[in-house]
Amino acid sequence: MAILHQAVVLLGAALCVSAATKPHVIMIMADDMGWDDTSTHGSKSVLTPNLDVLTRSGVSLHRYYTHALCSPARTAVLTGKYAHTVGMQGMPLSNAEERGIPLEERLISQYLQDAGYRTQIVGKWHVGHAFFEQLPTYRGFENHFGVRGGFIDYYEYNAQEQLDGRPVTGLCLFDDLQPDWTTEGYITDVYTEKSVNIIENHNVSEPLYLLLTHHAPHNGNEDASLQAPPEEVRAQRHVELHPRRIFAAMVKKLDDSIGEIVATLEKKGMLENTIITFSTDNGAPTVGLGANSGSNYPLRGVKKSPWEGGIRGNAMIWAGPEVAPGNEWRGKVYDGNMHAADWVPTLLQAIGEVVPKNLDGFPMWNEIIENKPSPRNEIFEIDDYFNHSSVTLGRHKLVKGTIDESLSKHYGADLRGIIGTPPDYKQKLRDSKAWESLETIGIPLDADVMADRDEAIITCGDVEPKPCSPSADSWCLYDIIEDPCELRDLSEELPQLAQILLYRLEQEEAKIIPRESQYIADPRSAPKYFNYTWDAYLSVEPYTDSA
Ligand SMILES: *[C@@H]1O[C@H](CO)[C@@H](O)[C@H](O)[C@H]1NC(C)=O
Ligand SMILES: *[C@@H]1O[C@H](CO)[C@@H](O)[C@H](O)[C@H]1NC(C)=O
Ligand SMILES: *[C@@H]1O[C@H](CO)[C@@H](O)[C@H](O)[C@H]1NC(C)=O
Repeated sequence: MAILHQAVVLLGAALCVSAATKPHVIMIMADDMGWDDTSTHGSKSVLTPNLDVLTRSGVSLHRYYTHALCSPARTAVLTGKYAHTVGMQGMPLSNAEERGIPLEERLISQYLQDAGYRTQIVGKWHVGHAFFEQLPTYRGFENHFGVRGGFIDYYEYNAQEQLDGRPVTGLCLFDDLQPDWTTEGYITDVYTEKSVNIIENHNVSEPLYLLLTHHAPHNGNEDASLQAPPEEVRAQRHVELHPRRIFAAMVKKLDDSIGEIVATLEKKGMLENTIITFSTDNGAPTVGLGANSGSNYPLRGVKKSPWEGGIRGNAMIWAGPEVAPGNEWRGKVYDGNMHAADWVPTLLQAIGEVVPKNLDGFPMWNEIIENKPSPRNEIFEIDDYFNHSSVTLGRHKLVKGTIDESLSKHYGADLRGIIGTPPDYKQKLRDSKAWESLETIGIPLDADVMADRDEAIITCGDVEPKPCSPSADSWCLYDIIEDPCELRDLSEELPQLAQILLYRLEQEEAKIIPRESQYIADPRSAPKYFNYTWDAYLSVEPYTDSA
């Protein structure tokens, strides 16, 4: 038995690292993109053919969970730990505060650098920026081109916030440690071009780790809201509501970016030995802070809530034939749980590295590729800043605490309106750059099969609704498999089960590392002191002539 077990382990290892170098790892993240904001999940308004081709020739992560907000979610992706175990839960960072992922935490960039990878990040950071040691180039990335904070104007690259009770604006775009005053263009294109350059100039005998964190489809500044090139908006005339039309154009640019990245990897001869991942940071804010006309339909709730709409997100993995040979594993919809904290251990396992023991995440590369049950049976969403939490154990989920009623509804049905005939989906798939590149390297593709998305579409099921809103001392309980839309409260029917879940939550809450501070806006960060940039205000000397 022991010998048999060993043979299986060896076989597993051989599957993963057969090529000359370790696989290249390209992680692409979207910002505030909801469940129904991709045609992977059946949307007819927001089309993502490049992403869909990758997803349907890789694995769709059907039960991918994340944190309900940006900085917490990115913390989990980077550290392999829940945000609440490193003090990063709750309200995301402003540009004017000094919180960040504690410096003693190791990030995926550091693990991969130690494993011999060249490490690059293009895009948004948002896990600490007040002093240099918090920045990517001090934490395992060789370079960072992009934005350190949470959001920007898509053309001006500045962010506006309240400081001392009045609005102030500063440039957010940096090239490593320098403010970037020269870049021009739509930010999604700018990031794509930078990423393409990194891949084109990469020495292929070394493994590359590229983290590409797009802003799309987050809104720009509060008052600038949704931004896309006019001709791209015009091309979305099948979308009924105007903001949704702009939103669809923003996602189209994001999807084009994915196609460009895949095409560049193929031309460079790297695609065969590459892992590509895609994930959103959290659910869409259909309403509330940063509302962007994104949709989590048919799920309940939005960003910033522990309802499924806030934490169940889009994600997929794709791998080239040298990383995961054979085609039997391709095109599956993986039904096991995965959490944002699972990326670090899962990718370390995929590249044949030792998985650290002190993580909240599980390595599950082998389970995903072999379509085996997930090692993750439990999911926590704990936010002691907004004072709510949820625990999912097996098929049941308990939600407790105070949640704004407006963040707790079912939104998105109104955003599905289509004018006339929507574009021909199968043709879009075949016309995509991802299709062309995958065809070139011999991955079998079938538009008819890909266009059948029944398995990936969530339907609310036939449950008799029993409404529930939790409070500081009451909770709601759901069977999340039968009732993914959280319509029927079971807390009265299954009181003992609720007690078990409450107990598990209490145990996990004992692990909370408190936030260092509540949300603050430090006047020392004011852009006027730094030539109107949001610079690392505790490391950079203020410019004397503007102070
Ligand atoms: C590419 O990487 C290999 C392995 O690290 C190294 O030996 C080689 O010198 C590099 N080539 C260039 C042009 O830098
Ligand atoms: C969360 O609860 C704490 C303690 O009762 C309270 O001070 C805080 O204001 C609450 N947070 C929010 C966002 O309501
Ligand atoms: C200050 O900002 C302007 C753009 O507003 C830029 O042209 C100039 O180079 C910056 N000065 C320094 C010293 O960085």
